[in-house]
Amino acid sequence: MRRRDAVSALGVVAWAGALVAGCGWTGQPPRHGVDLYVRHCASCHGIAGKGDGPAAEALTPRPSDLTRSTAGLAELMRVIDGRRTVRAHGSAEMPVWGWVFEGVIEDDGRRERNVLHNVAVLAEYVLHLRAQAARQPSAH
Ligand code: HEC
Repeated sequence: MRRRDAVSALGVVAWAGALVAGCGWTGQPPRHGVDLYVRHCASCHGIAGKGDGPAAEALTPRPSDLTRSTAGLAELMRVIDGRRTVRAHGSAEMPVWGWVFEGVIEDDGRRERNVLHNVAVLAEYVLHLRAQAARQPSAH
């Protein structure tokens, strides 16, 4: 990663972390994370994140069990966003969510902010699913 990219990525992560911690500047309800997840992710990754959603069987590779991921917030954001990863150049089954959100969010001058907000909220929700799975090791 080039130095300038690294610095700006860190800035974004710090900013997004603050957003998630403070959450509320968009007036989104606290259920925003679960809403986004259920709408966009559960079909493949399953409601509890175990990689067992209804669409999972048809995919190769299979959707990951998100509760087994060890990625931190920044890495999750990068993977979910997908615009700066190898995935952005095609092949993988996982949609590039950064592009998806760009496509559906109105460009009112703050679109990139809102895209990153969604990505951050989702990354935080994945961490939440992981914590939940750790508390109930046998539940599905
Ligand atoms: C069409 C099915 C599909 C949907 C919908 C989907 N994913 Fe995925 N996801 C995958 C697949 C398949 C992989 C594993 C391999 C890959 O990268 O393609 C994956 C991998 C991941 C990973 C990496 C896990 C790891 O251990 O490296 C994360 C994080 C993730 N998905 C989060 C999400 C989130 C959050 C959403 C909703 C915004 C979502 N996914 C929606 C199919 C999907």
